[in-house]
Amino acid sequence: ALITLRQLLDHAAEHGYGVPAFNINNMEQGLAIVKAAAEVDAPVILQASRGARSYAGDIMLRRMVEALAEMNPTIPICLHQDHGNNLATCMSAIRHGFTSVMMDGSLHEDMKTPADYDYNVAVTAKVAEAAHAVGASVEGELGVLGSLETGEAAAEDGSGAEGKLDHSQLLTDPDQAVDFVSRTRCDALAIACGTSHGAYKFSRKPDGDILAMHVIEAIHERLPGTHLVMHGSSSVPQYLQDLINDAGGAMPQTYGVPVEEIERGIRHGVRKVNIDTDCRMAMTGQFRKIARDKPEEFDPRKFMIPAMKELTALCRDRFERFGTAGHA
Ligand code: G3H
Ligand code: 13P
Ligand code: ZN
Repeated sequence: ALITLRQLLDHAAEHGYGVPAFNINNMEQGLAIVKAAAEVDAPVILQASRGARSYAGDIMLRRMVEALAEMNPTIPICLHQDHGNNLATCMSAIRHGFTSVMMDGSLHEDMKTPADYDYNVAVTAKVAEAAHAVGASVEGELGVLGSLETGEAAAEDGSGAEGKLDHSQLLTDPDQAVDFVSRTRCDALAIACGTSHGAYKFSRKPDGDILAMHVIEAIHERLPGTHLVMHGSSSVPQYLQDLINDAGGAMPQTYGVPVEEIERGIRHGVRKVNIDTDCRMAMTGQFRKIARDKPEEFDPRKFMIPAMKELTALCRDRFERFGTAGHA
């Protein structure tokens, strides 16, 4: 059944687990992710970016997720707008059946320019009031996602935003978080701790200087009842980099967020864990492998089936490691 983010994360907090939020754009991703959820009996968040909505279309996305729910009646599914950029985006998502929206007011509507605190509070509070009136949940974001190594803010597509930021903008301030949650009434709070979108998060295996998990612990101490969200949580595992590169890909060596760091976050209030890049790499790795091994093949299903299998395996692992398994 489709449920709200609030219902899902309240249960996660009560039982001390985290829920992966996987991005979807098409049927194969939806089938593979929900298959993993069903195999391990886990609830799941399926999220669609603005890009996903224009790629698949709102009607297609909604019907697809309704179909996934009908096919898997025991699995709680939340359909969430990822990185909403204004009130209109969030409200049109809700009109199309989304049970939850993110209002990302850490950036302006262009999703490139870092916004000031007052703008963020005002726009997030407005979305929360409107969404709550019709029974949908709201995720806000405080702190600009970006690299502590380069000082670059992270745009949604993994590219850099305008200008350089200092650590005070790239790390969520715990005192400000308390004020933000009480003034906006958001159901979940995305924080910034040094992660960024896309595959190229860190130039080395991250330590506490570039992945600031201690910030999450400080926020959780101040806001023990607030559901925290980690964006940019792909682990960019070596086996997927190798799968892609061994089959003719050219991804430079890179490092993501180690799963054990996410597990540490889950012990300190992280309830929603956003993952897109790992899912993309899992599918693309298999596409490349089939293209290399079977150059005579041209049936898309022969590419999609192994790609879905690879994605299901990845999702199963995250459900198991985040403690989501068994909680459907
Ligand atoms: O937050 C970023 C997600 O990976 C969505 O990316 O805007 O390319 O669909 P997208
Ligand atoms: P990744 O690029 O690390 O998968 O992050 C996805 C994300 O944060 C979507 O909002
Ligand atoms: Zn994100």
